[in-house]
Order: sequence, then C-alpha cells, then structure tokens
Amino acid sequence: MSQLLNKEDKRTKYCGEFRDADIGSYVCVMGWAQRTRDLGKLIFIDLRDREGIVQLAFDSDTPKEVFDLAFTVRAEYVLCAKGRVRLRSSINDTLPTGRVEIAVEEMKILSVAQTPPFEIVENSTVRPELRLKHRYLDLRRPDLQKNIIARAKIASIAREYFAEKGFIEIETPDLIAPTPEGARDYLVPSRVHHGKFYALPQSPQLYKQLLMLAGFDRYIQLARCFRDEDLRADRQPEFTQIDLEMSFVTQDDVISVTEGFLKKLFAEFKGIELSLPLPRMTYEEAMNRFGSDKPDLRFGFELHDLSPLVMDCGFKVFAGAVAAGGSVRGINIKGGAKFSRKEIDSLTEFAKTYRAKGLAWYKKSGGETSSSYAKFLTEDENAAIVGELGIEEGDLALIVADKNSVVFDSLGALRCEVARRMGLVKPEDYRLLWVTEFPLLEYSEEDGRYYAKHHPFTMPMEEDLDKLEEAPEKVRSVAYDIVINGTEAGGGSIRIHTPDIQNRMFRALGLSEEEAQEKFGFLLEAFRYGTPPHGGLAFGFDRLTALLLGLEDIRDVIAFPKVQNASEPMTKSPALPDPKALEELAIAVTETEE
Ligand code: AMO
Ligand code: AMP
Repeated sequence: MSQLLNKEDKRTKYCGEFRDADIGSYVCVMGWAQRTRDLGKLIFIDLRDREGIVQLAFDSDTPKEVFDLAFTVRAEYVLCAKGRVRLRSSINDTLPTGRVEIAVEEMKILSVAQTPPFEIVENSTVRPELRLKHRYLDLRRPDLQKNIIARAKIASIAREYFAEKGFIEIETPDLIAPTPEGARDYLVPSRVHHGKFYALPQSPQLYKQLLMLAGFDRYIQLARCFRDEDLRADRQPEFTQIDLEMSFVTQDDVISVTEGFLKKLFAEFKGIELSLPLPRMTYEEAMNRFGSDKPDLRFGFELHDLSPLVMDCGFKVFAGAVAAGGSVRGINIKGGAKFSRKEIDSLTEFAKTYRAKGLAWYKKSGGETSSSYAKFLTEDENAAIVGELGIEEGDLALIVADKNSVVFDSLGALRCEVARRMGLVKPEDYRLLWVTEFPLLEYSEEDGRYYAKHHPFTMPMEEDLDKLEEAPEKVRSVAYDIVINGTEAGGGSIRIHTPDIQNRMFRALGLSEEEAQEKFGFLLEAFRYGTPPHGGLAFGFDRLTALLLGLEDIRDVIAFPKVQNASEPMTKSPALPDPKALEELAIAVTETEE
C-alpha cells in the first residue's frame, strides 16, 4: 500500500471547509485522524486539519479493501481520502461541517502514528513541560492553532497599517554591542575575536534611532528581542516587538499614530470600535489611585491616602510608617465583607509577597464591625478612616502601612488579586489608557545610583530639565506606556537628540565621560551630524496578541516558547557545546549544572 502522494492526489479543500453546498461532489481531503468510531458495519473517522474536522464514513457501500484499511486507522494517522460528500444521517450542530460527511471510496494511509503522549484536544490540562517536550503535537491542538494563526493576522494588520502610514520595514542586526534596556544580556562569543562577545539585542533601540539620523523618517520592524530575565506569564527570554520610530514628532504624534493602529486592530480583529483619543493618566496619578503604573481600570478599589488621618495616632504601625517618610493607604473592597478570616489571612500572605509587613483590615457586615486594628485607634480616628474609604455595610477595607514603594506595590497587587477572586476580571472587557510623565530616573538603594526608568535616551520633560543635576529624582520624562487591562502592552518615548542633554543624562546616571564615550561614543558622535527630533514606541507583540485573545500566558501565542527555567525541553536547549567549538572560541567552562 503506497504511503506516497501521486499526481492525482490533489486536495479539494481543507477538512473544516465542507458545507451543504458540497453535497454530491467527489472530493479529496488530507489530514490527521482525530478519532475513529468502529460500530461494526460502520466506521467513522474524524479527519482533522488546520481548518477543522470533517467526518469520513465507511459502510457496506465502501469498497472492502478501503473498509478494511479504515479498520486499522488509529489516532493521529495521516490519511488521504477521496469520496462523495453527502448529508449526514445524524446532524452534529456543534461542528461547522456537522451536516455533511464524506462517503470514502479511496484511501491511503500516508503515515502511521504511535500513541501520542497526550490527547490532541482543546484546553489541555496536561502539564506544560510535557506539552512543550512534544510541542509539535501540542501545536496540533485547535486552540493553539487558532492562537498562532491569530498572531499572524495581527502581524499582517500591523504591517499593513504602518506601511500605509509611510513606515519602512528595516531589519536591524542581532549580533550587536550591548544595548541598555536594563535587563541582562545574552552573550554570543566571537570565534574570530577571542575573549570578545556580541550581545543579542534587548531591543533595536539604538539602531532605530540611527535610522532616524539616516533620514528614513519612519521605521517599523517586527523585531526579536532577547532579555535574560526571570520568566513570568508575560515574560519570555526571547520575544517580539512591533517596534517603531518616527522623526520630527512630539509625543502626541507617536500616540496618535499608535492609537490609529489600535483602532484598526480592535475593529478588524475583535469587531470592537475603540473611541479615540484614549484616556491618559500621569504616572503620579496612576500610582496614587491604583498603586501601579499599569492600572487595570476594569474595576475600582482605588487607593486612598490615610496618612493625614493616622500620623498622630497611638498605633505604632500606622504613625511609625508616616513618621519614617512612608504612608498608610487603604482600599475599600465593595462587597468584600464576605471574605472569611481565612481568606483575609491568605490576602495577608499575598501582600507579604510584595514585602508588606502586614495587612490591616476592617469590615462591616450584618450591622457589626470587626477589624485587626480598630482597637488601637480612637473612635474619631476610626470614623475618619471609614469616612475616607467610604466603608458601608458589606464592605472590607484593606490597609498597608510602609514605605511608599511597598504600599503601592502591595495594594496595587491586592486590588487586582481581590478583583480576580471576586470574578470581576473579564478578559474581553477592554480598558486601554496611556500612562505618561514617568520619572526619568529611578534610584537603586542597593547600588547607590540612579538608573534610567525607561532607557538612557529618553528625553526629560522640558519644564524639569533644570532639575537634572540638583534633584534628578524630580525630573519627569517624555515617556509613555500603553496599558491594556493592567498589562503594559507597549512603551516608548521621545528621545534625546542633542549631545549636551545626552551627556547630562549620562552624568546623572553616574557614567563618567570616558565610560559614556566607551559605551555610546558612536551615538554621541552621530548626534553631531544633524539629528532630527525623534521618538517611537514598541509594543510587546506577544503580550498584545495574548490580550486580544483573552489569554494570560504569552506562551500560548508563541510557537516554540521556553519553560520557566529558560530551557526548551524539546530540543534540550541550552546544551553543552561540542568541546571543539569551545576550544575554537577559547572558552573554558569552569562549572556545569548537575
Ligand atoms: P520596553 O523595554 O518597554 O521598551 O519594551 C517594550 C514592550 O515589550 C514588551 N516586553 C516583553 N514581552 C515579553 N517578554 C519580555 N521579556 C518583555 N519585555 C518587554 C512589553 C513592553 O511594553 N526600546 C524600547 C521601546 C521604545 O522606547 O521605543 C523598549 O524596548 O510589552
Ligand atoms: P500587630 O500589633 O503587629 O499585631 O498588628 C496589628 C494589625 O496590624 C495586624 O492586623 C497586622 O496585620 C497589621 N499590620 C502589621 N503591620 C502592618 C503594616 N505594615 N501595614 C498594615 N497593617 C499592618
């Protein structure tokens, strides 16, 4: 029996495409056996390809050798079947092809299959490590097929939109000198230059700026980026950006072109009409109201500053936090009084993972109040807190006292966690906003120096420029993030385009003249040859795709992602290289993993 295709074996169309209109046609289909049902005198095989499933039928009218062959088919066998489309005797309304079947007259088994290590079904609960070890099987599952195809659709919408707006697609190199996006670099040793390494780009940031210098005016790239960071649901060591840059623009120009893209994307991909302009919120407002620079606006539970109400109170935890320069803030979980003590304890543990030392709470339920802290405060102080938070019957207040960064982090995360537990987080309810006016710099206690909050090429706000030397922490930048449902979907900035501001920025970052010259001399030099004011943005393409599909884990939109420990179980990377290769690179490995 031939397992080869010949000239006559031409597929009519995909399995998932057969409808009533095909009834009576003699057709040829190819695909994988999803399921076989042997009813004695009748055999049914569900044949699956990328577009769906069609039923193959074998009965007393089927040529005997074909019927006998059908009997041997097992799950994931690859078949080529020919026959006539007919109306099914029992209609299956759950399948798009469910009204028809193919009465098979000729069939070839193109390839047999071992029993797969897991079933090829939608919404698999099989552990990710096993699925990723056999990713080619995992990718056969209809939900992953849908995701990967959707990703391609989004990429083509992006390419179409930006091309129409005059953006030019330009590739930038992957073997480069380190770029400063703030993560750890992946390094690639040079065979030709012993002891020297390329870095893989954390983003094409400097190259796209140089393309503006080169006069291309508008650049776009679906760029692969590499960052050696700890993995999370929304973080992969290699990921893709929709990366753009524009010349002769202000923040509003970049925002407006980006909004146009989002409008087209949501309309074409989701059938959702976004109303533009999207709301904007400063970083300061986002932190004060939501404890986060990527606020999820799908639910309330906004933060309230209780510091003025408790700064002089007798409860050391509260008064002490304010005295130490921190704050006491709270959120009102409307309807949260139904949380049990046990649940509140688990929220406390959750808050502690964000470095909170404790979680103070107050609830009003059935006309009674209970609280972890009320006994330490006066009646007036308690009433003031209740008033400020707007606590009513059925509500739960959660309060954290600490230094501001801990208060914001923990309450910001708590409001999302509580909303999730209360079922208030609907993936398909889209709330988009811009967060603007980010601080230019971030101080690291650990290293005793400032770091760029976005990257070192981000323009300070003009009105704050004079503070760059005296009060660097007060300087805001012309940086903006696009936030969708509490996820940073993208971010960008207007860039510094003059060598003097760039040098001041390097100084603020503690880089000496020599260090700046050594690392970025080429850029500083380039700036001396006539630089257009420019700015841009990059979307996290994987995140954007996941958001549009209502998925939390970006691995579900990446064909071959890495697992938690940054390895890839299928091809077993990273791997020990051939000793000869190491020798050529003049590299000695001093320690290996067990
Ligand atoms: P930024 O570092 O903010 O900006 O990255 C842009 C967007 O990329 C996504 N992203 C990631 N997605 C998956 N896995 C990761 N490890 C990961 N890291 C970031 C996020 C983020 O918003 N060069 C600048 C852009 C610019 O200024 O134009 C940059 O890379 O969605
Ligand atoms: P204690 O006196 O330490 O038992 O604390 C009394 C209450 O205050 C408990 O409910 C603690 O969880 C809470 N608490 C302790 N530290 C903090 C903090 N940093 N922020 C908010 N509440 C806290």
